[in-house]
Amino acid sequence: MPQAGIFVTATDTGVGKTLIAAATARILAERGMSVGVMKPFSSGGPSSMDMLHLLAGSGARDERELVCPYHFPAPLCPYAAARETGVEVDMGRVLEAFSELKRRHEVVIVEGVGGLRVPITEELDVLGLIRLFELPVLLVARSGLGTINHTLLSLDALRASEAEVLGVVLNDVQAEVDPSAESNGEIIERFGRAQVLARVPHVSEASITRAAEALRASEKFARVLERLGGGR
Ligand SMILES: Nc1ncnc2c1ncn2[C@@H]1O[C@H](COP(=O)(O)OP(=O)(O)O)[C@@H](O)[C@H]1O
Ligand SMILES: [Mg+2]
Repeated sequence: MPQAGIFVTATDTGVGKTLIAAATARILAERGMSVGVMKPFSSGGPSSMDMLHLLAGSGARDERELVCPYHFPAPLCPYAAARETGVEVDMGRVLEAFSELKRRHEVVIVEGVGGLRVPITEELDVLGLIRLFELPVLLVARSGLGTINHTLLSLDALRASEAEVLGVVLNDVQAEVDPSAESNGEIIERFGRAQVLARVPHVSEASITRAAEALRASEKFARVLERLGGGR
């Protein structure tokens, strides 16, 4: 049974998880793989925009209940949003949705929520979700100043939780990138003992196609995808 997948997390919210996850899904789909996507927890707005971007990237047509079992309109972490709305999160439902997507697809790209220590329930945070899903992790980080600390702390947390780290993708979220971006990748590799797989430039209108082009140009990123069966 196919079990491949990637859990896309980040050093923070607004760092580019959705764009990078959608672009990764696009690359694999263009190579002829059946790609499922999942945003197990989402918040902010009437419906999950992240879910729509992920579906657009992958071309998947699964039911919304499977792709995004829990969406909360309030822009809060899942724990606070569920508490505020009196919703009791049923992790069994989330795991069943994930299992069904794995049955339907060769690979499933899962987007986390916020960063790693964001609480989902009283007992579970994003790190715990990664453990439950048993997926290797792609860490998205901003390319500019401040990213070293956030990235190294995130890598420490992933290792302490024995997650498999595929590598880091640096993302130019802002159009203007400060000079630190030139050396941040090398410093993260040296002190974080993780591969920086690619740097994605600022792309107009956050185009999934353009972000996918940047990821496709990276040999290191290609090697990671090959391990998932998405060979060139
Ligand atoms: N490389 C990029 N170029 C242009 N816009 C980007 C880029 N990466 C992210 N964005 C934009 O920045 C915002 C945050 O990105 P998003 O992927 O939604 O982050 P996250 O999923 O981590 O919250 C979105 O509006 C997105 O379109
Ligand atoms: Mg997102």
